[in-house]
Amino acid sequence: MPINIEGLKFTYSNGGPFEKNALHDINIDIQDGEFIGIIGHTGSGKSTLIQHLNGILKPTAGRVIINGIDTKQKDLKELRRQVGIVFQYPEHQLFEDTVKKDISFGLLKQGLSDEEIQQRVISALHSVGLDESILEKSPFELSGGQKRRVAIAGVVAMMPKILVLDEPTAGLDPSGRDEIFGYIKELHRDFNMTVILVSHSMEDIAKLADRVIVMNEGTVYMDKPSGEVYTQPDQLEKIGLSAPQITYLMKRLKTILPDIDENIFTVEAAVKELQKHLKQ
Ligand SMILES: Nc1ncnc2c1ncn2[C@@H]1O[C@H](COP(=O)(O)OP(=O)(O)OP(=O)(O)O)[C@@H](O)[C@H]1O
Ligand SMILES: [Mg+2]
Repeated sequence: MPINIEGLKFTYSNGGPFEKNALHDINIDIQDGEFIGIIGHTGSGKSTLIQHLNGILKPTAGRVIINGIDTKQKDLKELRRQVGIVFQYPEHQLFEDTVKKDISFGLLKQGLSDEEIQQRVISALHSVGLDESILEKSPFELSGGQKRRVAIAGVVAMMPKILVLDEPTAGLDPSGRDEIFGYIKELHRDFNMTVILVSHSMEDIAKLADRVIVMNEGTVYMDKPSGEVYTQPDQLEKIGLSAPQITYLMKRLKTILPDIDENIFTVEAAVKELQKHLKQ
């Protein structure tokens, strides 16, 4: 399901005394099944941008078309079925008294049968590494990581074609983060979901995304296959970002091991590359 963003401009409180231009002339095309990372400083417009993907925010100028649906149209039911967004700190949106009710909330509105709902809830739970034992618990009894997973399961249960996640692992410990990223990777692979992941961490984006969109002050500063973004660290440094730390380390190691590949962006890839050379 292609996403087509054309000349998108967005102003908060347009025309009011607190007017704030958050996005300026954004042009992005995304094809089915892509895994996109969006990175940028706080306030660069990442959350504003992704909220345009299911019509929560409407362009002040320009347009956003999702598989032929213009997000400016009134009836957004079909759009919301196709685009699932996990917001920043999604656990704040858990409000039902049981996990089961929370995950089924969106499904009930779709008028599915009880059996279908049950099936979808369980498979969504499994896809984030949880099981049925949690269904009758209150979301408020859960740990931070579990709450985050339940919130993600609620969106996954809708089986969106496009899954958008805004900082889904912020505030979790590294093992909780890796687990959630693992599940997102599987969803992308098994269902060919288009995934759009917003993150502050270049390390996380490097591990997951095939294409990286760097936002800066409400504009798209870079939009490139992920390898190309990190091989130009000076471009990133100009706006106060940096390549993954491991990339800098590999560049330094190249001065003593001239044969190594310095275009390495993840620790796993670095380990493999170094093992190869140490054996020699
Ligand atoms: N509801 C709002 N009303 C007015 N201005 C807003 C509102 N939400 C965001 N902004 C402003 O719009 C700009 C973009 O904010 P946005 O939340 O999209 O950035 P972000 O890249 O998601 O930041 P973060 O990394 O902190 O989540 C910022 O200058 C922000 O202050
Ligand atoms: Mg944000």
